[in-house]
Amino acid sequence: MKLIEKIADLREEIKRFKREGKIIGFVPTMGYFHEGHLSLMDIARKRSDVLVVSIFVNPIQFGPNEDYNRYPRDLKRDLKLAEERGVDIVFHPDNREMYQENFQTYVNVEKLTKGMCGKYRPGHFRGVTTVVAKLFNIVQPDIAVFGQKDVQQAIVIKRMVGDLNFPVEIVVGPVIREHDGLAMSSRNTYLNDEERKQAPMIYKALKVAREKVKMGNRDAAKLKEIIESTIATAPLARIEYVEIVDDENLEPVSEVKPGTLAAVAVWFGKTRLIDNIYLMER
Ligand code: PAJ
Repeated sequence: MKLIEKIADLREEIKRFKREGKIIGFVPTMGYFHEGHLSLMDIARKRSDVLVVSIFVNPIQFGPNEDYNRYPRDLKRDLKLAEERGVDIVFHPDNREMYQENFQTYVNVEKLTKGMCGKYRPGHFRGVTTVVAKLFNIVQPDIAVFGQKDVQQAIVIKRMVGDLNFPVEIVVGPVIREHDGLAMSSRNTYLNDEERKQAPMIYKALKVAREKVKMGNRDAAKLKEIIESTIATAPLARIEYVEIVDDENLEPVSEVKPGTLAAVAVWFGKTRLIDNIYLMER
């Protein structure tokens, strides 16, 4: 496995692989790996000849009052885990390598970023799409794998790739969870013991709603209420949003149909957690 920090060096490697007709798979990350990240590497590994993983805590997707500075980092551990999962190249640029002085070009997906997380994290998705567009231009992958955990991100990236004709196939991997159902996240390390104990209530609430749908309840307003009241049984939970939306356009629906998702953001103390579930599969 190679660790590469410079864009020019990565380009050289990629050029060589492309000449040999190799399929390039790519998993962009901000590091501090957990089984969620590693599962995406497994998916990409199976579908490519060369597997590239980027580790870059992207400053422009964090708001001024967000956790950029305290975002967890452990490159040494990440490199070991990546090597074990069969990664060929870890791309780990620094901020100056990615954002030269006078950087001023951004990619913005308009409608899909207005609701859900976009509403509470202004500028976040603009930062995500800009860095992913840059990474796609640098790595030139044939396929790139993203997680269903950040469902709005995955849908926004698919839109960007379609709209801007990036020659890359986007694959979405399922949400990987802890044994008690909490969706894995690098941010789970922020939770104190009591918060960690209560956080699985998020997934419990989503499952309760899915059960109600299985029993015949299709009323989105009612299901939203059920999710909210279930999460509220965790005394430390502060709900940011609960949305029942269509998985293609992320617009709220009034009746559950195939492709309807329940998506939530919930604060525990200073930690913001997100999760989602299909209320009805497509
Ligand atoms: P990061 O939060 O490090 O996540 C990297 C990838 O792992 C994303 O596609 C995310 O959806 C996926 N992921 C995270 N937790 C997961 C889980 N529990 N199960 C399955 N997949 C999971 O998302 C980002 O980084 C950044 O926004 C990035 C796309 C790298 C752009 O900076």
